[in-house]
Amino acid sequence: MKNDKKLFYEELNKLVMDSRIRRLSKYPQHNGSNTLTHCVQVAKRSFALAEEFGWDIDEKELARGAMLHDYYQYDIKKEGFSAYHHGTSHPLTAMKKAQEDFDLTEKERNIIRGHMWPLTLVHPPKSKEAILVCLADKDIATREFARPEIRKAKKLAGKVLNRKSSQ
Ligand SMILES: [Fe+2]
Ligand SMILES: [Fe+2]
Repeated sequence: MKNDKKLFYEELNKLVMDSRIRRLSKYPQHNGSNTLTHCVQVAKRSFALAEEFGWDIDEKELARGAMLHDYYQYDIKKEGFSAYHHGTSHPLTAMKKAQEDFDLTEKERNIIRGHMWPLTLVHPPKSKEAILVCLADKDIATREFARPEIRKAKKLAGKVLNRKSSQ
């Protein structure tokens, strides 16, 4: 069965316009990204992975879980949390805060709670949607971390190519 891309993107757009979710743009993520942008990227990547794997998913739950997976709403640096402390504790914080503001399904709660697995050992992802968000989050975070290095490598590659063409 084919996933409904239109339904997924309609739900995603609705969430992006929600004033409670828009607050996430105030909180920084890796290397200049903010949490709103990060969640949108994770949502898009999750859907793309579902298509790649040929997995039949619930479009609305995937969009909602992905957009709320980092709903913890604090600045890690300002809070003075270590990477380990933040890594292990923010899924629960995000789930609690998301629960206060939204009516979550059991699957959506697990998408949020399980997205840092295997770091959060006893809280694994329990559905296809939760596995997709868990994988997409790692993929997007790695790209965000690597962004300055990729920029430097591109610059260097450009110089090498220019040198070659002028020889
Ligand atoms: Fe996270
Ligand atoms: Fe994340």
